[in-house]
Amino acid sequence: MRDDRTTSGTWWGRAAATAGPELLLRLDRRGGRPLRDQLEAELRAAVRDGRLGPGCRLPASRTLAADLGLSRGVVVEAYAQLIGEGYLEARRGSGTRVAAGVSGGDGGGRDHPAAWPAGSGAAGRGPATAPAPAPAAARPGPRIDFRPGIPDLSSFPRAAWAAALRRAALETPAWALGYGEPAGAPALRAALAAYLGRVRGVVAGAGGVMVVGGFSQALALLARVLPGRLGPAVAVEDPGSPGQSGLLERTGLELVPVGVDGEGLRIDELACSRARVVIVTPAHQFPTGVVLSPARRAALLAWARARDGLVVEDDYDAEYRYDREPVGAVQGLAPDRVIYAGSVSKTLAPSLRLGWMVPPAALLPALVQAKHDADLGSPTLEQLAFAELLSSGAYDRHLRRSRARQRRRRDALVAALRRHAPALRVLGTAAGLHALVELPAGCDEAALVRRAAAAGVGLHGLAGHHAPGRATTPGLVLGYAALPETAIADGIRILSGLLE
Ligand SMILES: Cc1ncc(COP(=O)(O)O)c(C=O)c1O
Repeated sequence: MRDDRTTSGTWWGRAAATAGPELLLRLDRRGGRPLRDQLEAELRAAVRDGRLGPGCRLPASRTLAADLGLSRGVVVEAYAQLIGEGYLEARRGSGTRVAAGVSGGDGGGRDHPAAWPAGSGAAGRGPATAPAPAPAAARPGPRIDFRPGIPDLSSFPRAAWAAALRRAALETPAWALGYGEPAGAPALRAALAAYLGRVRGVVAGAGGVMVVGGFSQALALLARVLPGRLGPAVAVEDPGSPGQSGLLERTGLELVPVGVDGEGLRIDELACSRARVVIVTPAHQFPTGVVLSPARRAALLAWARARDGLVVEDDYDAEYRYDREPVGAVQGLAPDRVIYAGSVSKTLAPSLRLGWMVPPAALLPALVQAKHDADLGSPTLEQLAFAELLSSGAYDRHLRRSRARQRRRRDALVAALRRHAPALRVLGTAAGLHALVELPAGCDEAALVRRAAAAGVGLHGLAGHHAPGRATTPGLVLGYAALPETAIADGIRILSGLLE
């Protein structure tokens, strides 16, 4: 590598492309300040401001010395000083690294990802040069966050995913690294058709499944394709997902909120609207957790036939059920009337942006065209890695383990609520990754959420899940999937103190 020496004498070294992170280090050779001090200060600043993140490996002293035009002793001394100060650590066999507990000046450089139900937010952002994730302790946000919609990210099957991705990277022929099919990699479409048929009762051959960038992309594609066919009105559940409503509204669609009761979506209310499309969460209504009853399923499909309309089935967390029989997808009852969609956001990780859609055959070409126009197709290697997880059985094994863990967390939530707040009514705990807690009538939900935030507990009120102007009772949507049992118990204890 070569570096520039400026005419002013300030020397910008681009350190160690081969043996460590790319890093600009500024050394001024004119002034009297010793080069060792300057190097120390530059490295210290790089760690502090997050350009060198925790765990990041530094170049070998010999390499950095050669890159910067210094004697090796200067680099060795600078490293030793920073090790003494706790910025760096030296491990036998793995060289010098940024110490694990050191966080950058912006709190480790990580923003909290925001799930749909909790509102919008920036995606995760890490220090550009850091290969290791920032430690959880460096994250901003509430100490105990009951945000719904986030799975247990710490149990992401890293080893299985890495092995599958590695295999895809090594074995995929060169020609397959070009633009893929916009409908998705054939191997994944086939694996999904088999999986969805086996586990969810979805009726589809490989050719009927398309791969999308999560349920949100499915919605965005539908927002392009459906209005021309079925008009601009789209019915949504109320309470429902504010993220989805926002997305649909921003595309210019006219949202029609439809109430939900103990049997799920109110089909009588739906029938009074002029909508010909409805988005539902039949297996576990978001956020009430109600299962659409058999009678309502039949009524929903009868409505769709009578209206010559379509049902969009959001099967977002059906893999998680604890004390009840699995409920098959509505799509299996009427593949010509239902657009089935799901994603790995609750089972693996939202960051994969990987989902699927099974539309009625007549709609498929238009949706595939919209997908092509949006992004030319989802990334191929990730699709192939996921196809391997599905077909090898690794995904099933991961789901079984996750379900057992989530059940323990659900049990911890229910037990803590029973112990600390027995008067509260808790709904929707038989399945999913969140529960709905009804607050006492007259309770100021927003004030409670604010006071909990001040106490380090992130709560999410039910009010934000209703369309403006719709009647609402105070409540909390408690996501528990990402919280260890002890944190769940602590959080509920704090909540009950605030309620008193
Ligand atoms: C109701 C509902 N459906 C679907 C999703 C998943 O969206 P995506 O697949 O785009 O991550 C979420 C995410 O939180 C959700 O709350």
